[in-house]
Amino acid sequence: MIISRSTLGFALLATMPEVISTSIPPYSEPTDFDPIAALAVRGISVEELPDTSPHIITASYKNCTAAVSKLASIYSNQVTLLGAPDYDPWRAEFWSKYQESAKPACIFRPKTSGDVAVAVLISRWSSCPFAVKSGGHAAMKGASSSDGGVTIDLVNLNGVDLSEDKKIARLGSGNTWYKVYTTLEKEGLAAVGGRAADIGVGGFTLGGGISFFASIYGWGCDNVANYEVITATGEILQVNYQSFPDLYWALRGGGANFGIVTRFDVETFEQGDIFAGGLAYNYTAHGPAVINAFSKFASNPDPKAATWLVVANRQGTDLLSTLTMYREPNPEAPVFRDYREIPALSNSTKIRTLADMTEQIRSTNPKGLREMYWTHTFKFSKDFITWFAKMFFDELRPVQEKYQGHLPSPVFQIITKDCLARMSRNGGNALPLKEEEAPYMNLIYSCMWQNEADDGAVIGLIAKVMGKAVEEGKGRGIFVDYVYMNYGSEYQDVLGSYGQENFGRLKGIAKKYDPRGLFQLLMPGYFKFSGAPKKEGPGVINV
Ligand SMILES: Cc1cc2nc3c(=O)[nH]c(=O)nc-3n(C[C@H](O)[C@H](O)[C@H](O)COP(=O)(O)OP(=O)(O)OC[C@H]3O[C@@H](n4cnc5c(N)ncnc54)[C@H](O)[C@@H]3O)c2cc1C
Ligand SMILES: *[C@@H]1O[C@H](CO)[C@@H](O)[C@H](O)[C@H]1NC(C)=O
Ligand SMILES: *[C@@H]1O[C@H](CO)[C@@H](O)[C@H](O)[C@H]1NC(C)=O
Ligand SMILES: *[C@@H]1O[C@H](CO)[C@@H](O)[C@H](O)[C@H]1NC(C)=O
Repeated sequence: MIISRSTLGFALLATMPEVISTSIPPYSEPTDFDPIAALAVRGISVEELPDTSPHIITASYKNCTAAVSKLASIYSNQVTLLGAPDYDPWRAEFWSKYQESAKPACIFRPKTSGDVAVAVLISRWSSCPFAVKSGGHAAMKGASSSDGGVTIDLVNLNGVDLSEDKKIARLGSGNTWYKVYTTLEKEGLAAVGGRAADIGVGGFTLGGGISFFASIYGWGCDNVANYEVITATGEILQVNYQSFPDLYWALRGGGANFGIVTRFDVETFEQGDIFAGGLAYNYTAHGPAVINAFSKFASNPDPKAATWLVVANRQGTDLLSTLTMYREPNPEAPVFRDYREIPALSNSTKIRTLADMTEQIRSTNPKGLREMYWTHTFKFSKDFITWFAKMFFDELRPVQEKYQGHLPSPVFQIITKDCLARMSRNGGNALPLKEEEAPYMNLIYSCMWQNEADDGAVIGLIAKVMGKAVEEGKGRGIFVDYVYMNYGSEYQDVLGSYGQENFGRLKGIAKKYDPRGLFQLLMPGYFKFSGAPKKEGPGVINV
């Protein structure tokens, strides 16, 4: 049985003009809300557990035994218990070793939104914490697998269904973008999604979502017409700009703080083959020319194009490598002329499908390694990029051979004015970016390495390089205090960086839809209102 508060139809969305809602609909959790009664409505009977109160939310791993046995009794073939034959192979599927290291009391694979609602209510009843996994690409431990609690793996929520007019694709939140792209390409369509094949629809879209199409369509979160959300009381809401505009705004960049999204109904667009691939250049020989070519995007972007710039050393050569993507099968796009004129060490650009491009990016970001992302935002500055590349290579040189499998890859991406303009439709999103300050650049320090013994040193280097970048950015007056969630490290306070106003508004919305803080207390992984997931810094090593 599905309890649905909003009946605002899906069919309505695709054709509905942009109506500005004047009143925010009421929503409240009954003060005496009782998960035992709510489970009973769904035909599930549970007893009150000793030392727990159905009216208070507390997290305790002690009663996970109760939660697990209840889930297993209702959904035997959707639950994997700790120690079962498929338990370790499942953990090994995480992209990052940090996530693999978490050992959930059980893995639960819901098949319907109702199953997700039951899992939320069982957690609330038993006080057993949980985590939610979509693509599992968050790098930090506990983000999408609970150490000791229940991990809800959305993998079976994998529908990709087009509306009749094909303008909306309803995406189950356990999909990877590869599955979405390969399904939509049969119709000559695409959607605003991730650039690596195995990124999940869930995490990508909740944090913002930078795609190849950002300059035309904005970020992933700006292209969701409707979210299906399971609330802290196990209700199933259809959340869109008309039905719940406050929650709709919060879900656009506010992360996993308001509910579990079971379906994202995203806008589609027509898309055929693209011209895309990577180009690697010798930094020593061509550094300034490559940085010039990249920087032209900031002042004169072609909305059909996308690019990023990676600063890296491979086999002893300092490199600048770029990704170029043109959304038409055109190898001669003028916007990339400057890149074409610089001799490249390697060149994988070609006419291909979007899905094929994301598969190449996946293959260069293999799973099973120690991984960290760390990010900051700046107003665009070519000189800063030049400064950063030199500083980074200077810091890296003495240690680059020291740690096994050490592949640090800082990446610059431009957030164009066109992108910002697109973010503001339908009430805007929760991110603190302003059109008049654009273009911005995002700097993400992405890094993989092999051995746990090197964690301190590698993370210390990341912290040191990013600390210097922040200091330099502040000195140049270009530092922007916005930490992009999808690239944030566990040492960073993402929501705190959204600015007082947005942070306060987000907290207020969470208080309305989840007044007792279930998604803070019982789903504690990843970026919450309480600040950085890890409160202690990694320290800075002597290099
Ligand atoms: C190789 C690689 C390439 C990337 N490329 C891009 C890119 O092109 N653009 C970009 O913006 N980012 C990119 N990222 C970052 C990526 O978007 C984030 O890591 C994102 O969190 C991954 O989403 P996921 O669903 O795979 O991860 P998960 O680890 O499954 O989810 C991340 C967080 O979101 C929560 N969550 C997920 N789904 C739901 C849901 N349905 N309801 C509630 N909470 C949920 C999880 O609990 C978890 O805390 C990339 C990352 C990697 C490793
Ligand atoms: C739940 O935890 C309490 C202690 O916190 C314990 O007394 C009780 O036996 C547990 N119940 C179950 C069913 O595990
Ligand atoms: C890169 O350029 C430098 C300077 O021109 C040159 O010495 C070096 O051999 C080049 N490296 C490669 C891999 O081509
Ligand atoms: C890379 O290859 C494509 C064709 O595959 C070509 O059009 C382009 O000029 C090449 N670029 C560089 C920089 O060599």
